[in-house]
Amino acid sequence: MIGRFATPLISLMVVLSIISCQAQLSTTFYDARCPNAPTIIRNSIRRAISAERRMAASLIRLHFHDCFVQGCDASILLDETATIQSEKTAAPNNNSVRGYEVIEAAKREVERACPGVVSCADVLTLAARDASVAVGGPSWSVRLGRRDSTTANRGAANTDLPSPFAGLDVLIDAFDKKGLTARDMVALSGAHTLGQSQCFLFRGRIYSNGSDIDAGFASTRRRGCPQSGGDGNLAPLDVVTPNSFDNNYFRNLVERKGLLQSDQVLFSGSTATIVSQYSGNPRTFAADFAAAMIKMSEIQPTLGQDGIIRNTCSAIN
Ligand code: HEM
Ligand SMILES: *[C@@H]1O[C@H](CO)[C@@H](O)[C@H](O)[C@H]1NC(C)=O
Ligand SMILES: *[C@@H]1O[C@H](CO)[C@@H](O)[C@H](O)[C@H]1NC(C)=O
Repeated sequence: MIGRFATPLISLMVVLSIISCQAQLSTTFYDARCPNAPTIIRNSIRRAISAERRMAASLIRLHFHDCFVQGCDASILLDETATIQSEKTAAPNNNSVRGYEVIEAAKREVERACPGVVSCADVLTLAARDASVAVGGPSWSVRLGRRDSTTANRGAANTDLPSPFAGLDVLIDAFDKKGLTARDMVALSGAHTLGQSQCFLFRGRIYSNGSDIDAGFASTRRRGCPQSGGDGNLAPLDVVTPNSFDNNYFRNLVERKGLLQSDQVLFSGSTATIVSQYSGNPRTFAADFAAAMIKMSEIQPTLGQDGIIRNTCSAIN
């Protein structure tokens, strides 16, 4: 009797072991081939952030804008060529996303230690984690083994990256399309505890006299952002502590002092209670942020034999 089941059982086990041998992300991915990679990258990122503290914000955003287009495959880092329509000039990125040269520099240092081993996508994923830690945010362990794309998709960057003028349902939907929940979306928006926004992206809100904006806050922001002109003037996304990671972003939202329309709408509808929770509990926010960053970093990974390891992040080999 047993013999009759043995053959199908063995074939089932073979199939299962083939499935489990399929490439997957792992925290130990470079341990054998480039054990110093995470340290080299961390030191390089730390140096860039001590030279300019805002770079922490810029790197976290760069990673987000990579992951929302074809997954986290460093597609955003590719320059325009005859065959590649760069994502760098897509509307949400052009004259806005920064930090390309910092990733390129970290990649260069890793290449010196282990040529052709570490992907730009992994460098960027580690950089985002290191950036969080450098400004007082949470740490998390990064699963590695992403491969770099040979393509970019400007069209997808234009459609899939959320707009600061979007309403709550549209924002929830944009994240849902990437497998992220409304709670993930609120936690990840907490990255706006860091960094800056250009005037033209929040002008409508500060001149709206709306009931969802604190009048004193609006009047302060108007000083640096005139009704016409000054489109590129910067204001901090977190009015209280723009250079350190904390939950003040959520406390601002409760006080109707969110800078972007897409920030303030989080304190309405089905996500209002999440904002309240994070505004009162920085630890819950930090833990949820870390978990959501891991989830975001694992959207559609390119693995195994797919994609390449680029020599330089801005071009395919
Ligand atoms: C919920 C939808 C989101 C919208 C509509 C949005 C929109 C924006 C806009 C308009 C800016 C200012 C850009 C500029 O002035 O050029 C910005 C900055 C920033 N965003 Fe978001 N964002 C969203 C979610 C996220 C997420 C998920 C992250 C990362 C996890 C993130 C991280 C950042 C950071 C750190 C900055 C400041 C960058 C810097 O100073 O260089 N954002 N965002
Ligand atoms: C990107 O911005 C530059 C100005 O710095 C502009 O000349 C160019 O047309 C923009 N590209 C796109 C695709 O909008
Ligand atoms: C907002 O209020 C100011 C004066 O309090 C007024 O000058 C302005 O026209 C108002 N703006 C809108 C969009 O209603």
